[in-house]
Order: sequence, then structure tokens, then C-alpha cells
Amino acid sequence: MASFIVNGQPVSCPENKKLIRFLRDDLHLTSVKNGCSEGACGTCTVLIDGKATKACVQQTDRMEGKTVVTCEGLTAREREVYAYAFTEAGAVQCGFCTPGMVMAAKGLIDRNPDPTPPEVKDAIRMNICRCTGYKKIEEAILLAARVFRGGEDVPHRVLKGIVGENLDRVDAPGKALGDAKYADDLYLDGMLHGTAVRSAYPRARVLSIDTSAAKAAPGVVCVLTAEDIPGTVKIGHLKQDYDVMIPVGKITHFLGDAIALVAAETDEQARAAAALVKVAYEELPPVLNMTDGLNDEILVHESNGTNVLSHEHLVRGNADEVIRNSKYVVTHHYSTPPTDHAFLEPECAVAVREGDGMRIFSGDQGVYQTRKECAQMLGLPQDKVRVTAMMVGGGFGGKEDMSVQHHAALLAWHTNRPVKVAFTRAESILVHPKRHAMEMDFTTACDENGYLTAMKATIVSDTGAYASLGGPVLQRACTHAAGPYNYQNIDIDGKAIYTNNPPAGAFRGFGVTQSCFATECNLNELAEMVGISAFEMRYRNAIRPGQVLPNGQVADETTALVETLDAARPILERDPKAGIACAMKNAGLGVGIPDTGRCRIEVRGGEVLLHSSAACIGQGMGTVQTQMAAEILGIPHDRVRYCVPDTALAPDAGNTTASRQTLFTGEAVVRAAKQVKEALEKEGSWEALEGRSFLGEYTGVTDRLGSDKQNPVSHIAYGYATHVVELNDDGTVKRITAIHDLGVAVNPRSAEGQIEGGVIMGLGYALTEDFPLKDGKPTAKYGTLGLFRADKTPPVEARLVEKATKDGLACGAKGIGEICSIPTAPAVQNAYYNRDGVFRTRLPLPDTPYSRKK
Ligand code: FES
Ligand code: FES
Repeated sequence: MASFIVNGQPVSCPENKKLIRFLRDDLHLTSVKNGCSEGACGTCTVLIDGKATKACVQQTDRMEGKTVVTCEGLTAREREVYAYAFTEAGAVQCGFCTPGMVMAAKGLIDRNPDPTPPEVKDAIRMNICRCTGYKKIEEAILLAARVFRGGEDVPHRVLKGIVGENLDRVDAPGKALGDAKYADDLYLDGMLHGTAVRSAYPRARVLSIDTSAAKAAPGVVCVLTAEDIPGTVKIGHLKQDYDVMIPVGKITHFLGDAIALVAAETDEQARAAAALVKVAYEELPPVLNMTDGLNDEILVHESNGTNVLSHEHLVRGNADEVIRNSKYVVTHHYSTPPTDHAFLEPECAVAVREGDGMRIFSGDQGVYQTRKECAQMLGLPQDKVRVTAMMVGGGFGGKEDMSVQHHAALLAWHTNRPVKVAFTRAESILVHPKRHAMEMDFTTACDENGYLTAMKATIVSDTGAYASLGGPVLQRACTHAAGPYNYQNIDIDGKAIYTNNPPAGAFRGFGVTQSCFATECNLNELAEMVGISAFEMRYRNAIRPGQVLPNGQVADETTALVETLDAARPILERDPKAGIACAMKNAGLGVGIPDTGRCRIEVRGGEVLLHSSAACIGQGMGTVQTQMAAEILGIPHDRVRYCVPDTALAPDAGNTTASRQTLFTGEAVVRAAKQVKEALEKEGSWEALEGRSFLGEYTGVTDRLGSDKQNPVSHIAYGYATHVVELNDDGTVKRITAIHDLGVAVNPRSAEGQIEGGVIMGLGYALTEDFPLKDGKPTAKYGTLGLFRADKTPPVEARLVEKATKDGLACGAKGIGEICSIPTAPAVQNAYYNRDGVFRTRLPLPDTPYSRKK
């Protein structure tokens, strides 16, 4: 029993427990976020006797007589200043790290009202942010300190909120202060806690499951096995190969496979009972690498008949012959590792049975996808399942697949009580699909003047235990493998291979991060053979409007790769040893796949309500939609209200994936707003429109891969980028300049934030991040994934090249979601090559000042 003060109130905790659990579960102070419970992320930062401390590593018994402050305990003035500073600086994206950052800032500013930038970096070095790259968080803290020091009033900017303005993010103040609700922040009456029993082996036949001891354990309400699934046992995003649970007699596919589910009154009881479920296995030899997978001696999915999930072969021209006849030819083998998204919010969902249907509260990348898969599993029509989005604490592609939603729904179905399933960080690391490891052989050729002539590549990806989005990821790796250059002879062969490793799926960059590394590195060696700079090599070959991309698509007038290179030129002139790389990335699914953005605008109470299922996973989708609606309607932004996605209220706008939402749902917002405007002109008043709805829809029409058209349209739009990396004398990274062609920047400050965060994610991929596996088991914890911390993060300078989209679609915006992470790694590789002459062909790059000691 400990008695102490929390936010000015005396409290006592009868039983010793982690402070984070007491603050969240007993006091419902949900600003104290649970990112890892391992002391590694800082989302749980509170002040204890004025010192910033992680609540997950403190026990309540040690709090006797102490004073604890959380965001809920800030004074009105502090709330106003921190909300202002973090919003004004653009420091909030997914927001899951932000309350912890605010408390770290308060801990600093309270004792040092005038901190220097290095002191700010030092104060937040134990707090990870995966979205922002820290720059804007540091600016926010310096701004807050200045406002406190000067006793300044918080200024209120008056903006129209139209496209091109730095409108405050609509969700920023709530996220900064910890008021915004994520799924784990829901505490419903009578709510149970669910967890899964996971496989003991990556590949084994389940012989029997004995749940009797677990069922008799304290607090347990139900224990389920695959027999209890009323609908389909297998679900999946594109291919239904993912077992909700492995039935008796069937074979597991990886260590994250669920064998049984437990619901109990508390999370601890559920996990204790799960340990009592006895599973008898016949252990089978697993497939743990791509080489073994390719020979098909052991099949991961027997019904598939092969371990090849998908095979792509892209051919234009005659690469072999042209390579033979080219003046210069470079061939290298490249290896890139799997990596974890490491979003700060572990997966969580809460499900509630509603009559003969199901309600699911979830933080994911597409509420309709969740509805579809959960309805299939429950054997219900889709309209009997309602999915409501909660805030999403980062996704980056890792929250496209079912992880917790279906299990929460199944447990709620059987118990008829609300059920929360929240992953521990270890479960998150094991279960959600990773970035694909790839092995790549690339040959690239050019003529005597450095003009590219042809390329040939083979790409093999480890897609792990389940299909997830492994097919499209491989396809995008292949379609972008030739780079954003003007040549026509390509021969690219790709295979995605099932193994018994954790599944791989979507990850910001979607396969292009990997193939871009190979393409760009080859280009540098060619440049050296020709005797020109890496910059000049790119400048000569850069795709220009009217020219034809290697995939046959004609580059339209919005293509601005050369402009990004022009902006990079002065840096290379100043520092000829700087590394450079370019990239392109599609907006939208493309290649003939149906792809529609939708938005329903409802007029109510003089406000314009935006309903769309487009998930905001931190990128700022609500603000983008708000600004586009304000632009078209010509009304102040505060009359536009963004509503979180809900399948009962919002039309299906597809998943947040493929850098598509700004363009596709953005254009849908524009179309809906134009209808409202027309109706307003006709009816003469807003009152006449009260209660009416207007549906905007935009479908991007593209040609399928392998189309026999001479110049197929593979994608509606492409963004282009050039990154330049400068090193210090000691070999650390001095600065990264990231120049992006993104169409019109709807909110330039947000776009900069996307770029800064994406570049640091790319820098981690280049230098520090890895996802080691031992016998199919991840050996990393959150603290050892290799994520950059604030004190080691170099400056990133984001520059925007704005050339509006064709026909002004989506107010001219192409989007920026993924490309900002793509060219960083090869630019870093080039910088180190220029420094030490070592041509590195694997990631993370070996033998740099960032390399971990083995
Ligand atoms: S939740 Fe405490 S450090 Fe991550
Ligand atoms: S805003 Fe920091 S983790 Fe998302």
C-alpha cells in the first residue's frame, strides 16, 4: 500500500503494481501511453517529484510520499502553451509519443527555462518518435520555453484554412495533451481482456489442445479454439491464407500463429490462463530462408503447391542484347534486411457485441478492410459489423492486416461482453508483417556518355508466413526497379517466397525502398566508369515530361525530377563528396486495380461534416480534407468538421496505402464540395441544405501490368525526389537535404514534417535498423531495433518542389507518404563510398560510425 499525490490529488494504491498500470487502469489517466512497458520508448513519461520518469519502470510501492504529474495535471496555462507550441511547430503526427514528449519538455523547462537546442535534444533522448524525425518537436519545446519565459499570450492566427496554408492540424492539440483517444484508452463497463496462445514452433502440426486448466483459472470467462470460429478460419487482405487460429490437425506457419484465445476479467488473468493451455505438437522442419523456400522441398502452405507466393517478370525491349553491346556494365548483388515499423502504439482493438452484430473500435489503416475480414470470420453479412476508427498511433503499412481486431471480435461474440485485445510490444514485434528482406542481383548498362541503355534484375523477397501484401510489394519493387530514368530495355524477374519467418507486408516505400537501393548504387559505379559525377549521371538520365519511363508510361507535364536535381546542384558543388540518390513513387494502387476515394459531406447545424473512411495514421488526413473542403467551398475552415472514419457513417475510401489518400480521397472531397457549392447556389442558403448529404467519388483508371498498349498508364501520378547526404569529418551524418516533387503542398508544414520523419526512417534503414531472427524468432526488443534517437539525429532540410497534378486533381496534390523514405539509403551509401571508397551492398551499411559492435 502506497500513498502519494497524482495531479494534486492524494491517492493510494493497495497492491504493488507498475505505476503505468495504476495511472491508466485505476485512475484512467490515458495521456500516459503504453508504447512498450519495457522502458524503451518514453511514451509513458510523467514527472515524479519534478523529474521526467518512465512510469512503466516504476512500481507504485516506491511512490510513497511522492508527487506524480501527468498531462492531465498540467495547469490551464501549461495546457494552452504546450498545445499551442506543439501545434504551431507541426510537432504532432500520430501523436502517440506526444504527451510523453510534453512531459519531458515540462521536466526540462521547469528547471531550465532557457534551454539550448542540445539541451532539448538531451531531454528527449529517451523518448522515441517514429513519425517526425524530432526536428519539429525540438522546435516546439524551444517555442514553449520562449512563451513561458516571456509570459507571452498565446497568439491566435487567423487563417482561411485553404490549400497551401499552414493550417493547424485539426487533431494536434488533443493529441499533444493526451486527450485524444486511442483504442487502448477505452475502458468500457464490464470489459474483458483477451489474449492469444501462440505457437511454440514456427512449423508444427497441432495434435491436441487442452483448455481445461485455463478455463478453471481465476477470472477466466472463456477459452476459444478454431472450432469456435463461426465463419471462415482463414482470412487475409488479398489472399485468404491467414489462420485466425490453427485448428487441431493443421500445421502452424510461424511463431505468431494463434492456437487459442482467452478472455478474462483482467489482462494479467488472461495471460496467466493462456500459459495454462496445453498444446501437443508434432514439431516439423521449418523453412527459414529464401533459398530453402525456393527449392519447395518443404511447403509452408501445402495447399499452395509451392512456396512462391507471386512471380513477376517485366520485360520491355531486349535487355540482354543491349547490355552485351553497351560500353559500360555494372553488376552487383544487394541484400536488404527485414525491418519493423516500430510505430509507437502497439496494436489494440475493442469489440462489443451489438444485438446480432458486432461493433469494433480499432486503430488501423482501413475500417472497411477490418469490417470485411471480421465479418468473414464471424460468418456475418458485412453490414452487421460496424468498425469505428480510434486514433492511430502510427502505421507505416504495419496496420493493414488483422492483428487484434478479429480476436477481440471473436471473444466478444462468445462472451457477449466488451473485449479489449492489446498487444504487448513483444507480440507486436512478432506478429505484424514487416518490411520484406530482399536479395537482389542488378545489372545496369550505359553508353560512353553515361546514358542508360538497359538493366536486368532478379529480386527475391522473403514474404514470411502469410501473403499479406507480399504480392503487390514485390510487384512495386519490380515496377520501380529501373528508377526514374529515360531508357527502355528492362528485364526484371521477381519472386516472393513463403517461409516460416514472421510475415512481411506493406511498409512505407512498399518494396521500392529495397529496389531503389540497388538501382541507385549501380548508377554511381557507372558514373565512375564514364568519368562523370553521380549528379551528372542522374541529370543526364532523369526522366523529363514527354519522355517514356522504363515501364512504358509517358511522363506527364507534372514530372519534376529535374527540378529536384536543380535544387540539389548547389549542395554538390559545395560538397562534391556528398552522396546523392533519386527516387520515384506512385500515388495510388495503379496497374489496373480498381481504386476509388470517397467522401460524404453532410451539412448540419451550419457546419460541413466530412465523412470518409480514409484513415489518418499520423499523416494528417483530416487536415488535408479540411483544407480542400475550405478551398472549394470558400468558407472558413472552422465551419468544416472532420469526422473519424466509421463504416456506419462514412463511405469506403479504401485503405491508407500506396500514398493514395491525398490524391484519391482528396479529389473525392473536392468533388463532394463542388456538389455542395452547386446546391448552395441553387438553393440560396445553408439552411436549405440542412441535413443533406453529398457523395464525392474519384476512381483512378489505369492499365493492367502487361497491358499490350505501347504506353500504358501504370499509375495516375508519380512523385519524384532527390536526397543529398553530407558527412562530417568524423564520418557521422552532417545533414540530409530532401527535395521532393509532391504536386501542390496542401499544408507545407505538414508535408515538411512527413519528409523529415520519413528521411530519418530511411536513415535508420541505411545505418542502424535490423530485425534479426533466430530460428524464426525475432531477437530484437523495441530498444534494440536500432531506431534513431533525438540526440543522434542529424538535421534534415526538407524542400518542396510544387508542380500541380494533371488536370488539377485533388487541388494539385500528389501526396508524399512513402517517397520520403526511399532514396535516403542509397544516398547514404554514396556518401560513405565517397569518403572511404568501400562500395557497400547490404543494409544496414557495415563499417560506419553507426554500426553496432558485433
Ligand atoms: S511504455 Fe514506458 S518506456 Fe515505453
Ligand atoms: S508523432 Fe511521434 S511517434 Fe508519431
